[in-house]
Amino acid sequence: MRPILALLALPVLAYGLSRQQHTPPDRPAPVKRTGDPTFSADIAPMFRQKCLSCHVESGHAPFPLVTYTDVMKRASLVRTIAMIRSMPPTHMHSDFGTIALQEALTDEEVVTIQEWVRLGTPEGPKIELPPPAPVWSLGEPDLVLKLPKPKPVKAEGLAYWRAYTLPSGAALGRRIRAVDVRPLAPKAVRHVLVAQDAVGQLARRDRSGAGIDTYGSLRPYLGDPTNLNILATWAPGYPPWFPRMASAEVTAKDLAVQVLYQPTGKPEDAGIEIALYFTTEPPSKARWVSRTRTDFLIPPEGTPTLTETVEIEEDSLLFGLYPEARLFCSQIVVDLILPEGGRKIALGIYKWNPIWIGSYLFPTPIGLPKGSRLRAEFTYDNGKHSGRNEGRTPVPVKFGNGADREMMGIAYLIGTVG
Ligand code: HEC
Repeated sequence: MRPILALLALPVLAYGLSRQQHTPPDRPAPVKRTGDPTFSADIAPMFRQKCLSCHVESGHAPFPLVTYTDVMKRASLVRTIAMIRSMPPTHMHSDFGTIALQEALTDEEVVTIQEWVRLGTPEGPKIELPPPAPVWSLGEPDLVLKLPKPKPVKAEGLAYWRAYTLPSGAALGRRIRAVDVRPLAPKAVRHVLVAQDAVGQLARRDRSGAGIDTYGSLRPYLGDPTNLNILATWAPGYPPWFPRMASAEVTAKDLAVQVLYQPTGKPEDAGIEIALYFTTEPPSKARWVSRTRTDFLIPPEGTPTLTETVEIEEDSLLFGLYPEARLFCSQIVVDLILPEGGRKIALGIYKWNPIWIGSYLFPTPIGLPKGSRLRAEFTYDNGKHSGRNEGRTPVPVKFGNGADREMMGIAYLIGTVG
């Protein structure tokens, strides 16, 4: 319970900037309440804004929270998760705007939910249900690539990673302005990374197209470890990639697609569709600047902290970032330290959960003045109650791939100004 309580102590943050960029125009503003809360006037508009990116029929979450009956049936569970702030699952904060599609519940909203349940979940006047979201939020893609031969998602067991090689096909040589991802079984897919297989390493391992197990990072397959060639990352509840940035060019014959699957209790379709949007604009100068640590040992009961700093040598822009850690990591904080000494949080994940990896693209690029530093601090916990140990006696944990290993990786998508 400790991390959840720590979260409660955080200030509730809401930034107008990002809202403008990410909120589809048809979302109604929550109505200011005058009398007792009802589903129609208070709960439905709030949930539409903060829950329905996942809790719709055939969405990423296990059940919908769309209609009055949907919410009323689960009212007391909803009240509990609202009070401990475990949903929406944004255990993440940035001083530079909301990176996910939805923000955390405000104190006022939590009180409204409590009050609504206490009053016996009154419905209020019947309202129209929100229209279903379009399949592709950016409109019809120029090209949709599909994983060639994925094996069904396992029915049982822990979440697991698979990496596939996917021929770039008609995308080869094209410039991309946006990438979107659609898992065919939305409840069974928690994270997707799309990169260019620059050196053909993955293609050699995955000749059949059925994918290979990769517990750890895709980094060893992506060529130059300091420039990762990532085209996009995707996670439920986050907007598609690259929509506001200059383009990236597809130069590799194959793409590398890494997927984090979550068994749901029955075999599921492991298929992924990747939508590409082309452009003829000149390619951007953005590149992935990456740092990784392999020299660590986390002793039993230890809670060490690892840091890595990138110095910014010319005025630049930070578009997004990609942290990598596994089961023993407890917290990731990335600070922007300004030349004159001010500190801003670029990304703070106060309760790292390897199942809830996000897709961290800033709503507007962050200015990185010459002389500033990006400092990533990863904290680990090898205590008896930490995620992987589940009560067993902790053993020393080293860097590497596998369930008993850890990693520390951070990659920044940095562009030049102008
Ligand atoms: C980004 C996707 C996403 C958003 C947004 C989201 N949820 Fe969830 N929700 C999930 C998933 C996935 C689960 C299943 C549990 C898990 O994987 O952590 C879940 C589980 C739940 C549960 C069940 C928890 C339990 O212990 O069984 C409740 C209740 C819930 N969500 C309510 C909400 C409410 C209320 C909101 C908005 C205020 C919300 N969720 C926003 C994805 C989401």
